Amino acid sequence: MAEILQKVVEEERQGEAYAPFLADPNEYSKKFYIESYGCQMNFSDSEIVASILHEQGFGPTRNFEDANLVFLNTCSIREKAEQTVRNRLQAFRKVKESRPGMLIGVLGCMAERLKAKFLEEEKLVDIVVGPDAYRSLPGLIIEAEGGQKSVNVLLSREETYADIAPVRLDSNGVTAFVSIMRGCNNMCTFCVVPFTRGRERSRDAASIINECKELFDRGFREVTLLGQNVDSYYFTNPEQEEITFAKLLEKVASISPLLRVRFSTSHPKDITDDVLHTMAAHHNICKYIHLPVQSGNTRILQLMNRTYTREWYLNKVNRIREIMPDCGLSTDVITGFCTETEEEHQDTLSIMEKSRFDMAYMFSYSERPGTLAAKRYEDDIPEDIKQRRLQEIIHLQNTHSRESYKNDIGKIVEVLIEGNSKRSDKDWCGRNTQNKMVVFPKAQAGLKKGDYAQVKITSATSATLIGEMIYH
Ligand code: SAH
Ligand code: SF4
Ligand code: F3S
Repeated sequence: MAEILQKVVEEERQGEAYAPFLADPNEYSKKFYIESYGCQMNFSDSEIVASILHEQGFGPTRNFEDANLVFLNTCSIREKAEQTVRNRLQAFRKVKESRPGMLIGVLGCMAERLKAKFLEEEKLVDIVVGPDAYRSLPGLIIEAEGGQKSVNVLLSREETYADIAPVRLDSNGVTAFVSIMRGCNNMCTFCVVPFTRGRERSRDAASIINECKELFDRGFREVTLLGQNVDSYYFTNPEQEEITFAKLLEKVASISPLLRVRFSTSHPKDITDDVLHTMAAHHNICKYIHLPVQSGNTRILQLMNRTYTREWYLNKVNRIREIMPDCGLSTDVITGFCTETEEEHQDTLSIMEKSRFDMAYMFSYSERPGTLAAKRYEDDIPEDIKQRRLQEIIHLQNTHSRESYKNDIGKIVEVLIEGNSKRSDKDWCGRNTQNKMVVFPKAQAGLKKGDYAQVKITSATSATLIGEMIYH
C-alpha cells in the first residue's frame, strides 16, 4: 500500500467527494476538519470517521480555522511520520489559542501507540482515539465539549466497521478504496502495525460486495481492496461458504466487467497460485501486485521475521511472471536494518536486479519503540550508512523504473480515465492495468471520467507514460 506520507492536497479535493453532505456547509452548526497521514488504510478510516461525524450533524470543512473539531489521523510507521504529526499539531496551536472552544483530536496509529500519554505530551490535544474505537467518537466528543479530556484506544478482535458506509472524502468519483480486513498477525520484527492495529480480522464478504456494487452504481469504475495482508482474508458466510481472498476477488470482479479490481498489500508468503490464476482469468482484475521484499538477504529476512528466504521470494516472482507475463510488480525495501553488512546490502541490490520492479517504496530503518526488533536487536547501522545504502537503492530503482516505462513505448494500453492531467485540462490522465499513470490529449470529444480509452504509448518518463488515444 502507498505508505508514503501524504498530506491531503487541497487542490486535489473535488466536489462530488462530499456527496452526502448538504450543498452549503454553512448550514451545519458544527464543522469538522480531518487530515490523514500514513497508508491507504488510514485514509479509508477517515472516510468511516466522516460518516460517523455526519450522523452526528457535523458538516465538513476544508479549512481547519473554521472547524469546531479538528482531527489528525496519524501514522507511526517511522519516526519521521510521527514528527510530521507533531509539527502539524503546532500549526493548530495558534488557532486554538484564539478559539478555545475548538477541539483537537488525534486518531489512528499514533493515538494507539501513545494512548493517554499523548494528552500529557501535547497539551492542546482533547481527544485520543485508536483505530478500532471510532464508534465511540460521538460520546467522546460530548465529554470533550464538557471540558474533559477523552481517550479510547481499545483494540478489538471483531471491529471491521462493516455496516458503516464510508463518506468518500477526497474522491475523483472513479476510484475508491474498500477496506476488507483489519489488523495484522505477522509480527515482522521492525513493524509497529501489529501493535497499533491489533489482531487480524476479515470483514463480512456480503458487506464488501454490497459496497463495491453500490460504488459501481454511483459511477465508480475501480475498487482497491485494502488490508495490511489481503491474502490472508478469510470469511465463512452464513451459508457456510468459505471465502478465501481468491474467491472474494472473483466475486468482486463479477459485479461488472467494467469495474476494475485492485488490491493491496500482499505478503509474499500468502499470495497463492489460486489468487494468481484468478487474476489471470479476469480481464478486470488489474495485473499489478505490490509485493514488499524488504531485503534481499536471507539472514536479514530471518531477523525481520518475514518467514521467506531470498530464493523463495525470487521463485514467487517467477511464478507471478509465469502465470501473468504482463504483470506489473512493485515492492517496499528497508535499508540498514540491525546488523546488515555491506554484502547483505548488495544482496538487496541484486534481488532488485533479478526482480525488476516497476516501482518501489524505499526506506531507511527507523526503530520503533515496543517492536520485537527494538527489544531484541541493536539499531547499530550508523545513519550515514543507512542513507548511503538507501541512495544506492533509489538510484538502482530509478534505472529500473525508467527502463520499465521505456519498454512500454509502442504498446497499446487500456486506460481508465480518472480526470484531467495535473498539468493541463487539455489532457486526460488515468492508469493502465499495471498501475502506471498514462497521460494523453483529449483528442476525441464525448469521453468523460470513468470511461476506458485505448492509448498508444509514444514516450515515457520514469513515472508517467505519454500517448495518443486510438479508439475507445
Ligand atoms: N502490511 C504491509 C506493510 C505496511 S508498512 C506489508 O506487510 O507489506 C509499509 C512499509 O513500511 C513496509 O513494507 C516497510 O517497508 C516499511 N516499514 C515498516 N516499518 C518500518 C520501519 N520500522 N522502518 C522503516 N521502514 C518501515
Ligand atoms: Fe507490518 Fe509485517 Fe504486518 Fe506488514 S505484514 S503490517 S510489515 S507486521
Ligand atoms: Fe498505516 Fe502508518 Fe498505521 S502505515 S497502519 S497508518 S502505522
